[in-house]
Amino acid sequence: MQIVRTPGSARAVSRTLKRPVGFVPTMGALHAGHLALVDRAREENASVVASIFVNPLQFGPGEDFAKYPRAFAHDVELLEAHGVDLLYAPAVERMYPADFASSISIGPLGERLEGARRPGHFTGVATIVAKLLHAIEPTSLYLGQKDVQQTAVLRAMVRDLDMATNVVVAATVREPGGLARSSRNVYLTPEQRAAAPSFYRALRAVADAVQHGETRREPALAAGQPLLEAPLTWDYLAIVDPWTFVETDSVARPSIVVGAAFAGSTRLLDNVSVPSPAGVDPVLTPLRPRALSAELRGSR
Ligand code: PAJ
Repeated sequence: MQIVRTPGSARAVSRTLKRPVGFVPTMGALHAGHLALVDRAREENASVVASIFVNPLQFGPGEDFAKYPRAFAHDVELLEAHGVDLLYAPAVERMYPADFASSISIGPLGERLEGARRPGHFTGVATIVAKLLHAIEPTSLYLGQKDVQQTAVLRAMVRDLDMATNVVVAATVREPGGLARSSRNVYLTPEQRAAAPSFYRALRAVADAVQHGETRREPALAAGQPLLEAPLTWDYLAIVDPWTFVETDSVARPSIVVGAAFAGSTRLLDNVSVPSPAGVDPVLTPLRPRALSAELRGSR
């Protein structure tokens, strides 16, 4: 596995790789969720590129940028063992020199839910992923359903800006009790960790209610809201349209049940998708055709 540190060398080496090229962007501290994306990219491409970059632009002032877990040497071993051809790991100063001032904003979709709680977060995500895509020029970009609004934001960016990459979304990898794997799980105390599976059970219960035909928002949410166990508390729990992330009073299928919960100063984030009546999953299946998504622009 080759390791490169600058956009120029990333592009030069990436252009020598056999295509198709699958690309998995990460912030490191790798776990089974990241590695499932790498394995999927490995299966579907001739070459695999990963990146590790803890992106300051997507962290708010009071957030955990400085203490975000970093495990570079171990990450390199894991990526090598999973057959990655090229690792791009740029330095912060190289990505954001003092005069850096451009950004990509994707509009209202990036300002709802996670975007409302973390102002600027999705602009930071879109900007760094655009930079990474320009350096790597992959055939396909691999993302996890775990961060479902991020997948919608990046799909919108790729579509709106005519970027030459496919977006592939893979299912969330969970611990046996249901807790979604996350680099931030290391922050949890034993008591918080014991309660954490109740967060997934709550989301699942709401999704099951919708799946079984509940079309009213409040009763559907009430099926899951009380299931969250102390010391966890809700930040939000919502049922949203898969393309706009708008909440509606009447719940349709497909939809996505999204939630965030506080565990002390740690925030857990997760979601469960509800397929269409025909069984089509709105997150794991490809983007709607442009003609159909255009019709959603009014409510986006
Ligand atoms: P990070 O949190 O490191 O996640 C990298 C990728 O792994 C994302 O696509 C994320 O959705 C996916 N992932 C994380 N946990 C997962 C799980 N339990 N199951 C499946 N996939 C999982 O997301 C980011 O980094 C950053 O925002 C990034 C896209 C790299 C831009 O900085």
